[in-house]
Amino acid sequence: MKQSLLEICYLIGSVTFIVGLKMMGNAKTARKGNLIGAAGMTIAILGTIFLHKYKEGEEVNPLILSLIFGAILLGTVIGWLTAKKVQMTKMPELVSMFNGMGGLCAALISLIELNHLSEHGGEASFGTLIAIVAGLIIGSVSFSGSIIAYLKLNGAMKKPIRLPQYNIINLVVMLGALAFGAYVIYNGGNLTLAYGVFAVALLYGVLFTIPIGGADMPVVISLLNSFTGLAAAFGGFLYDNKVMLTGGILVGSAGTLLTVIMCRAMNRSLSSVIFGAFGGSSAAGSGSEVNGSIKDISVSDLAVQMNYSKKVVIVPGYGLAVAQAQHIIKELENILEERGVEVKYAIHPVAGRMPGHMNVLLAESNVNYDKLVEMDEINPEFEQTDVVLIVGANDVVNPAAKSDPSSPIYGMPILEVDKAKHVVVNKRSMNAGYAGIDNLLFYDPKCSMFFGDAKKALTELVAELKTM
Ligand code: TAP
Repeated sequence: MKQSLLEICYLIGSVTFIVGLKMMGNAKTARKGNLIGAAGMTIAILGTIFLHKYKEGEEVNPLILSLIFGAILLGTVIGWLTAKKVQMTKMPELVSMFNGMGGLCAALISLIELNHLSEHGGEASFGTLIAIVAGLIIGSVSFSGSIIAYLKLNGAMKKPIRLPQYNIINLVVMLGALAFGAYVIYNGGNLTLAYGVFAVALLYGVLFTIPIGGADMPVVISLLNSFTGLAAAFGGFLYDNKVMLTGGILVGSAGTLLTVIMCRAMNRSLSSVIFGAFGGSSAAGSGSEVNGSIKDISVSDLAVQMNYSKKVVIVPGYGLAVAQAQHIIKELENILEERGVEVKYAIHPVAGRMPGHMNVLLAESNVNYDKLVEMDEINPEFEQTDVVLIVGANDVVNPAAKSDPSSPIYGMPILEVDKAKHVVVNKRSMNAGYAGIDNLLFYDPKCSMFFGDAKKALTELVAELKTM
């Protein structure tokens, strides 16, 4: 009876993960999807604790129960407080820390199982040993790699560290971890040797992540995320636990897909991210020489231009997140709409520094989801747009991606803002964006620069519009 109930809990858990993940594909349902997945996970955890089949005559040990619930309580409090406190721009850091913990769990499960085998003198099948060692290696790489990613994102580790011949060293260490792991399997799961595998895999995670530029971390985190999913799936194999298997496979495949989507949207191969083509330093990109001059626009001229427009498209970028200007941008939208101007937001898939960055940021200030228009849909609308206001975006509107084969971003799909009647760019200086290259758009005769921190500049713009 207990066993059937447990299977039902696992079934509910698996179904909620799939439904929740599906709902996370849409900004309107994402929050609910997350809660549904979390509810399923809670059911699966409680089911495992209370309905797990013990050996004949064995009882649930109250000490173990109190340890489990103590750990759950501690984890919940730490997770809750961190997630509540974290700023939107620090989200990738949080994800990498949580991901690292998942990887560590998977590695510890493998070590505990090997310990179990050595204490009870049991013999594990070849398949079980493969699952244990694979979970150990992948989980450890994901753990140490995620911790390095976390340190890079929070500024504790500023520059990429590239040892001489680091690609060869990394390859040797990776092969070493795999060979060592194979030897543990061959040895029937020797625990002492497994600690060696643990250490080498941790080292590989560090060596794999340290050469990568800080700005490339979102892609690396999503790759490490897929590693953690895979490691958890091996745990599912090990325990014949369906919910762990489903969860692991979903995380693994979602992480892999996200990595591929991000690379495609940046027009970069995964190998160029891992082996570092740009993103590590702001001077990395080459691109063609830019000749021409730029022109400024004053706040009063911009206010007039926007006030008498029929259609305005706002392009948010990384700078909007840095300035935390999402609330004032919503105020700008409101005031323009009161004057009968149609306002939309153009969302580039890799604007900002994490997937969905702009959607999440604008959702914070209650911008209507229907106003957020994806790149492919908004591009044909630019021709009928009177003013495009770019706020803290740079690479995602750089026409060099289409016109300059020598540019490092050549081939990256962009928002074709240069088709609009007027383009206004708000940023603080002529500094480059993430790719470290000049933006030809700023020199376009249609384009004007509205310099200043986004929050301050937009506050002045809104104040000016209010006087009209
Ligand atoms: P970027 O090209 O990085 O440009 C951001 C611009 O914002 C900068 O040029 C900066 O210019 C300006 N800025 C910074 N702080 C500001 C502030 N307080 N007020 C006003 N402006 C400010 O941003 P983007 O157009 O959003 O493109 C994103 C880039 O990140 C792409 O190259 C993409 O490939 C890369 N990337 C994205 C992701 C994901 S998943 N989104 C992951 C990895 C890499 P000033 O310094 O002159 O102000």
